[in-house]
Amino acid sequence: MGRVKLTETVFRDAHQSLLATRMRTRDMLPIAEKMDQVGFFSLEMWGGATFDTCIRYLNEDPWERLRALKMAMPNTPMQMLLRGQNLVGYRHYADDVVDRFVQKAAENGVDIFRIFDAVNDIRNMERSIKAAKKMEKHVQGGISYTISPVHTNEQFAKFAVKLAELGCDSICIKDMAGLITPQNAYDLIREIKKEVRLPVNLHTHCTSGMAQMSYFYACQAGADILDTAMSPLSGGSSQPATESLVAALQGTPYDTGLDLELLTEIKRYFEKIVDIYASVFNPIAARLDTNVLAYQIPGGMLSNLVSQLIEQKAMDKYDEVLAEIPKVRKDLGYPPLVTPTSQIVVTQAVLNVITGDRYKMVPKEVKDYVKGLYGKSPAMIDPKVRLKVLCDEEPIVVRPADLLPPELESAKKAVDALGLAKKEEDYLTYVLYPQVALKFLQGAAVEEPLAKKQPSAPSASVSLKAEPIALNVEIDGESYLVKVAPAGMTIQEAQPKTPTDGVTVPMQGVIIRYLVKKGDSVAKGDAIAVLEAMKMEQNVLANKDGTVREIYVKEGTTVAPGDALMSID
Ligand code: CO
Repeated sequence: MGRVKLTETVFRDAHQSLLATRMRTRDMLPIAEKMDQVGFFSLEMWGGATFDTCIRYLNEDPWERLRALKMAMPNTPMQMLLRGQNLVGYRHYADDVVDRFVQKAAENGVDIFRIFDAVNDIRNMERSIKAAKKMEKHVQGGISYTISPVHTNEQFAKFAVKLAELGCDSICIKDMAGLITPQNAYDLIREIKKEVRLPVNLHTHCTSGMAQMSYFYACQAGADILDTAMSPLSGGSSQPATESLVAALQGTPYDTGLDLELLTEIKRYFEKIVDIYASVFNPIAARLDTNVLAYQIPGGMLSNLVSQLIEQKAMDKYDEVLAEIPKVRKDLGYPPLVTPTSQIVVTQAVLNVITGDRYKMVPKEVKDYVKGLYGKSPAMIDPKVRLKVLCDEEPIVVRPADLLPPELESAKKAVDALGLAKKEEDYLTYVLYPQVALKFLQGAAVEEPLAKKQPSAPSASVSLKAEPIALNVEIDGESYLVKVAPAGMTIQEAQPKTPTDGVTVPMQGVIIRYLVKKGDSVAKGDAIAVLEAMKMEQNVLANKDGTVREIYVKEGTTVAPGDALMSID
């Protein structure tokens, strides 16, 4: 065994970064036996996005993938990325769900749990760390790495001490945006190694172009484990290439001892895989993006931002939003930008710019964040912003999950009422992704077909149509509705189907529910409906005092800016 060990990410982060997380289990298994012979420290193969896409797009059971890979690769520890109290979802779950999920993940084959929290609030990690230790598994405590005026290496090292005290077996510097410079990788690892006697793993992305250099400096600082991806799925917003790093370190004190010939054989397999998935391969994500150095925004987030602005017909505001993002991040106490805080910051920045009035419109998630429901922000939230967002509500001081009642039993009842559970794990899938899971468990999910290559020219069916068509476009693992028209034809703004003198929506989104009904009296400024836009919920407010006379739009309807929801007299 070599001096530096490698975690291979091709089955999780690498295809999440470059192939919209679409790699299917049947394309992983044929190479599993060979990969098992390499001697990786671990194989990262499970996490939030892989779980989500399995049931949402692939009609695959994520639990079965876990079991299948574990069985095919008995010599390589299986590793998952766990978002602390968020598990593999986007909100905090109650402790009973955390305990059961971790237990089942361990029973089905996870050997190493890499656990992190977006804002590095240790209270959001305690429960899952404890649960994994109870299953006698290796726990890697993750530090969400970022750059800000309030983040220092000393603080990160102190956080590592807390993780060690909770029983973590190793420490991971999780640099999800690829921000770490070679010198800071060196300094931070030295600082952590001074404080704790645990193996240190560096996880970074090639986005900014510094990753390989940072890895070499990390080696010199005594890093024990590095994350790499098989070369066909390396680089860009993915990890540095496995084969290249193995070759670069050969004959140095950091030699991995891995067999380059075997890796080259495996590489050939993944070259074919990249061809199969050409239609979901994101060429933007495969490039270097030095914007990340200027804005601290991960590459994937920038492409999301572009789609959000296109959706809101505000692409001309791109530069303004880019400038607004660091301001919002400062207002919110410099959260590291990783799921879900990245979405929170960017969406608020978009809203601040397109409404022209900062924090006039605040999604539920931002309000929850300011309230402390995502944990303690790294620095204090700007008091003026807090007042504007929370009004007279007080932020919470307890551990956020302490406010959550147990939720497993009621979920079981819901699933059993429909007779959908075939195994205990199905309840967990349902708790994590209720809507998508129901469809999946009912057998109503279908595997999204991969498009044939050569997507450059518009297909005949598009150009023959005399009117614009709406398409769902996948960008960075997210789905967006885009309208496409044949050349020479302009897309008309949707004509308002309803009068425009009522309460109108300021942006495109879906009306998910009404908070009032016909005949209710409302006051100006009251929340009357919830609009889901840019994956977040925001309230639509009454524009005057009066009685709800008519509701024009049904719940579940997609609305465009200016559409009227109801009239108030
Ligand atoms: Co990553």
